[in-house]
Amino acid sequence: MYLYGLYFFKGYMHMKILVIGSGGREHAIVWKLKQSRLVSKIFVTPGNPGIGLMASCVNIKAENINGLADFAQKNKIDLTVVGPEFPLTRGIVDEFTRRKLRIFGPNKVAAEIEGSKAFAKEFMRKYHIPTAPFQIFTEPHEAVSFVRTAGMPIVIKADGLAAGKGAIIVRNQDEAAGTIEKMMVKKVFGEAGTKIIVETFLEGQEVSMMCFTDGQSLKMMLPSQDHKQIGEGDTGPNTGGMGAYCPVPFIDETTQTIIKEHILEPTIAGLKKEGRNYKGVLYAGLMLTESGPKVMEFNCRFGDPETQVVLPLLNSDLADIFVAIVDSNLEVIDDLEWNLGAAACVILASRGYPQKAETGKRIFGLRNYSDRQCFLFHAGTRREGKNWLTAGGRVVGISGVDKDLRSALNRAYEVIDNIKFDGMVFRSDIGFKANMQWKKSRI
Ligand code: AMP
Ligand code: GLY
Repeated sequence: MYLYGLYFFKGYMHMKILVIGSGGREHAIVWKLKQSRLVSKIFVTPGNPGIGLMASCVNIKAENINGLADFAQKNKIDLTVVGPEFPLTRGIVDEFTRRKLRIFGPNKVAAEIEGSKAFAKEFMRKYHIPTAPFQIFTEPHEAVSFVRTAGMPIVIKADGLAAGKGAIIVRNQDEAAGTIEKMMVKKVFGEAGTKIIVETFLEGQEVSMMCFTDGQSLKMMLPSQDHKQIGEGDTGPNTGGMGAYCPVPFIDETTQTIIKEHILEPTIAGLKKEGRNYKGVLYAGLMLTESGPKVMEFNCRFGDPETQVVLPLLNSDLADIFVAIVDSNLEVIDDLEWNLGAAACVILASRGYPQKAETGKRIFGLRNYSDRQCFLFHAGTRREGKNWLTAGGRVVGISGVDKDLRSALNRAYEVIDNIKFDGMVFRSDIGFKANMQWKKSRI
């Protein structure tokens, strides 16, 4: 617990909090903040009707930085928490700070670690942070002639934000040339593809590692794993994430220490040295390779759906952590306390996702399942009177918590048996890389 008495003097009791965003990640953040003894009222902009069951949703878009700052000023918000990357990379923290409003997240120059993959890669090279070897290109013909002689597979990435879809693994030269054309000439990702990165393909297991940091010290969260592809066994196109679990059994203490000491700490120290003091959540998307963990991407915020499994296992007070970071005081906070069990989240999506999702379908069975240690985090839902309807590609995340991963998964899938909508799609193999045989035992 962080200096409870100090909070009292500083007026941190009964805080009014504003959470920005509208997905499952923000629902999980709000759900966790509701449990804080420091929080009395939570507003969410724009939120969604599921979040609306536990907080006040106000229809201001995450992109409307001035509108959000005006709202925070007018409503005397004590602390704002930013969910998505876009407003962070556009300088929402700078604007709030200018207006003397407290806000949790990195400022614009620090958020560039996610906003520009070229910046992130050059930064990693400079500070010897393990990552795949790479080249950066601004001229399509130079990129094409490079890939004509490169070994395959190879990964081609748009420099800017591309909603998690800007990294393409290509298996031959023609595919590589076609991808470069699409990104740099046809501009399928808009200006995000003006610059591209071509990097070596890494083999191994993917892990997401998030930490809290005030730019000086850091506290690691538990490792988790996302399931990016739509299909079972990691097949088909990438999505915003079809499920996650936490912790990851195949990542041992030694590897976690390596990640802390060779990746996260030098990144935070390097950013500080560059005049980009980083405060907030730093997310490293890692590949555990034979030669150790390597960074594939940094994100300047909580991961989604990872947050839907990490926060349900956090026993410490989340508002405590946020305030300590905003005050640049993270080192005085006690070590984070974690539930020693496991959490698993299965995303229910709409038919057609991730290309063109069907919406407007009536959802049956949406209710509170916390009596079954299962938590529903809404993303694309809408309400019409008493009825729940689908309103997006990813509809709702079902997070089960139990003593181990197998039991947590069973909890999530058992709740899913009660929920139905036309065209409901979900992966029945969440956690399969944890080498579990749970699926067989359910049949
Ligand atoms: P990114 O947006 O950079 O995280 O990439 C999205 C996804 O592409 C990652 O989650 C990986 O599955 C894959 N990926 C990215 N970079 C590499 C790489 N160098 N080697 C293998 N897979 C990669
Ligand atoms: N789960 C990946 C991300 O949040 O970017």
